[in-house]
Amino acid sequence: MEDTALQAAEQLLGGLPPSPAVWCSGLRKRYGRRTAVDGVSFTVGRGEVVGLLGPNGAGKTSVIKMLLGLVRPDAGEVLLLGRPGRDPASRERVGYLPELFRYQPWLSAAEVLAVHVRLARASVPAEEQRQALALVGLADRAGDRVNGFSKGMQQRLGLAVALVARPELVVLDEPTSALDPLGRADVRDLVLSLKARGVAVLLNSHLIGEVERVCDRVVILDKGRVAASGSLAELLGQRELRLRLGAVNAAAEARLAATGSLHRSGDEFTVVLPAEDDGSTVPGLITDLVGLGVQVHAVEPGRISLEERLLGILRHEEEQR
Ligand SMILES: Nc1ncnc2c1ncn2[C@@H]1O[C@H](COP(=O)(O)OP(=O)(O)OP(=O)(O)O)[C@@H](O)[C@H]1O
Ligand SMILES: [Mg+2]
Repeated sequence: MEDTALQAAEQLLGGLPPSPAVWCSGLRKRYGRRTAVDGVSFTVGRGEVVGLLGPNGAGKTSVIKMLLGLVRPDAGEVLLLGRPGRDPASRERVGYLPELFRYQPWLSAAEVLAVHVRLARASVPAEEQRQALALVGLADRAGDRVNGFSKGMQQRLGLAVALVARPELVVLDEPTSALDPLGRADVRDLVLSLKARGVAVLLNSHLIGEVERVCDRVVILDKGRVAASGSLAELLGQRELRLRLGAVNAAAEARLAATGSLHRSGDEFTVVLPAEDDGSTVPGLITDLVGLGVQVHAVEPGRISLEERLLGILRHEEEQR
């Protein structure tokens, strides 16, 4: 009888999707009288790449530190890879590159990696550790002391540290802040290869273009709160239409403005299309413009960039206050 119940329970649990890489709910943190994080909740699925965005002081690093148990939240819950964040074992399969990275200056790059492998209680063969250094372009500096490393080289080492112990979740707090353009491109490839291997990544960067290229979803923080979150498709769903038109009379201009927010530069018009569109907006607009005697030279669909969208969200938040 008991066996059957156990089997049933196992079946039930087996049928559940794996726990997310990160789950947090209602995270809150005050420093003195300043509230740094005010009720932040989000998840990062297994193998998902999520970008944490927001202006300076928005609370991104504070959130990351609470997820990793480096800062104690005043309220809220954290689960990492299905284990409570309070449990140190939850962090064994997590790789982390801190915002302000500093590694033991008296150790060589290879020794720093070896220390972190031991701290993670992992067993990673020397050859694999060498590969981790090669991955970040430090193969020929493995025996050199960190003391003599440039800032960018230290950040590269930090990336190797984050990746070396075969993590299932990698948290990168501004991983390219000290990197040259080539290094940034390398990080992009690195994140994509992690994703391809099913490793989840939580990434915080001010380089929106980079985030847009690698992230499946973004969480936008502003003044300690989640201002917006969603997949890129959801957040950038707002489409626009660029038109090159001949002489536009008042009636035609009114028709354009009635479609959505309108911007004009010479004979080029940009209209933001409504979110709910059954596909008739553009043909309807063009038919009407032609009917109003306007010559239509070009009609080009466009997409709002993540940067424009982010600025729009943050400015809107500002107006709400
Ligand atoms: N140890 C601390 N003591 C006091 N205040 C802190 C501490 N850490 C963070 N704060 C405050 O919390 C707020 C959020 O800081 P946080 O570092 O999380 O921002 P951020 O979003 O990572 O910013 P940035 O983009 O500049 O890295 C800021 O107002 C900051 O001054
Ligand atoms: Mg920060």
